[in-house]
Amino acid sequence: CGIVGYVGSNKTVDVLMGGLRRLEYRGYDSAGIAVIDSRGVLNTAKKAGKLSALVEELKARPINDGQTGIGHTRWATHGAPTNANSHPHLADNGRLALIHNGIIENFAPLKAELIAEGFSFESETDTEVAAVLLGREYQRVGDLAEAFRTIVARLDGAFTLLAVHQDQPGVVVGARRNSPLVIGLGEGENFLGSDVAAFVEYTRRAVAIGQDQIVTITADAVTVTDFDGHSVETEEFDIAWDASASEKGGWSSFMAKEVSEQPDAVANTLRGRITDGRVVVPELTEFGDDVLAGIRRIVIVACGTAAYAGQTAKYAIEKWAQVPVDVELSHEFRYRDPVLSADTLVISISQSGETMDTLMAVKYAMSLGAKAISICNTQGATIPRESDAVIYTHAGPEVAVASTKAFVAQITALYLFALHLARVRGSLPEAEQAAQVAELQAVPEKIATVLGVEDEVRQLARWMSDTRAVLFLGRHVGFPIALEGALKLKELAYIHAEGFAAGELKHGPIALIEPGQPVFVVVPSPRGSAHLHPKVVSNIQEIRARGARIIAIAEVGDAAVLPFADTVIHIPLAAPLFEPLLAVVPLQMFAMELARAKGLDVDQPRNLAKSVTVE
Ligand code: G6P
Repeated sequence: CGIVGYVGSNKTVDVLMGGLRRLEYRGYDSAGIAVIDSRGVLNTAKKAGKLSALVEELKARPINDGQTGIGHTRWATHGAPTNANSHPHLADNGRLALIHNGIIENFAPLKAELIAEGFSFESETDTEVAAVLLGREYQRVGDLAEAFRTIVARLDGAFTLLAVHQDQPGVVVGARRNSPLVIGLGEGENFLGSDVAAFVEYTRRAVAIGQDQIVTITADAVTVTDFDGHSVETEEFDIAWDASASEKGGWSSFMAKEVSEQPDAVANTLRGRITDGRVVVPELTEFGDDVLAGIRRIVIVACGTAAYAGQTAKYAIEKWAQVPVDVELSHEFRYRDPVLSADTLVISISQSGETMDTLMAVKYAMSLGAKAISICNTQGATIPRESDAVIYTHAGPEVAVASTKAFVAQITALYLFALHLARVRGSLPEAEQAAQVAELQAVPEKIATVLGVEDEVRQLARWMSDTRAVLFLGRHVGFPIALEGALKLKELAYIHAEGFAAGELKHGPIALIEPGQPVFVVVPSPRGSAHLHPKVVSNIQEIRARGARIIAIAEVGDAAVLPFADTVIHIPLAAPLFEPLLAVVPLQMFAMELARAKGLDVDQPRNLAKSVTVE
């Protein structure tokens, strides 16, 4: 869910709605705002559906404006996305409003307790239970921050809660445990948000706050305490993102814009990390080259697209730095009994830096003694703050739910990590290092070339708009790209899609092949992967003989695939480990164009949220 809070003399409704618009990628099942108006009365408006439904509601039934308010955009967990289940939830006879991100796991016994006391509920949400609990406590103590300090002790699970009370105008109070919250500092106004996107339009000054803290904002003050009321140190930082970077500009969708920004995403991630033809990542030097030299094993934890970036990088890290790498989904890693030690390095990958599954995996690994490095695209996010070091990707804000530019930036950052590690461990000769650096530096321009296949891919997607299932094959680094191609198609076009290791085909998946079945094949380079290329070409022939319709992603000049492919999409020449950064682009475009051909919303696909801050 996305959360915004505001106190100040701007038009509060506009500030809240603008914040929600920028946070909508966090959830779009419903939205709502609560504002204490200039006469001191609390007003709310909320509506099921995307934010546009709330915009319409406010046009039809405007609410009085004021100087204090909170806003919420929901990704439903408890209770269907209805008006009643939308946030804010009210308590204390409609004088208190509360919004929530996270899950309160013990809401059922709390609710039973409150019902026994005579309280009644209008929704099925865990959130309303927190609201009523807070209202009851407010009655006793007459102060929101103090009331929060008492009730947080009774809540299990993860949450960010923001509340306003009409008896305390000019104050928004937030409580946070394991869910995201940042402060934005203005002149005579202050903000709270799930991330900096909530207020980047108004200020570039932000404050990151820690876990288990309570924050109070007024128009000219910010106070942060722990759950016991002791004041705590906070850390101010400047927001590097430009507000205009999170605007759609003239593009048809954020996704189309972000796909096109991939050359910059890679170039910006490389910037400042290559010196005299060698990779020197300052954040890693600070972390400790001696520590890196002593690492015996690397475990990568991530979810979704980020996990495929990890799977891709495994090949490079093992080849260049010669350290064994395991890649694991965060939620699987967390709930088994992994064997870790002080010489294990855990690398988490997360665009948002807030994915709850990944955060928990990192904390768990650190509790077992491992060192943790975060690859993250969002400044001041929770995962980098909890880790020993962070390598930020500089892809800029990614708004479309399906990740694209963050993915190529993640692979880039991981390759920088691999080359830095190889240098400190002396595992890669100088000349080899220089060759890889040259390959890396050439990636932005090559991606720019790949973007030129757009029309071809759009045409293909239009022809295929009634396709029911699509398979993706790849081998070596092409394998995670096949998985990513399939994931994109599921997310965006709601088509059954599966990725396979090409070598695995004959062990089962080939049974799926019937006449007309479309199969994308990521073909390795005939030069760079001379040993693998013929094997994949044989796979193509095997499925073609059974009627498959082949769409090959192949290197320019690869003559061997031409006779067997129905369609060939060309990518420029690159060393094998760099092909994924090119081959993924047409697959992203294909999913996007197929979704568009089916008339679907590519930025906000059904049921998904970009940043999943619940387990
Ligand atoms: C969600 C999104 C995916 C994303 C994954 C990991 O599932 O829909 O697009 O890859 O989370 O997100 P993260 O922010 O941790 O990279």
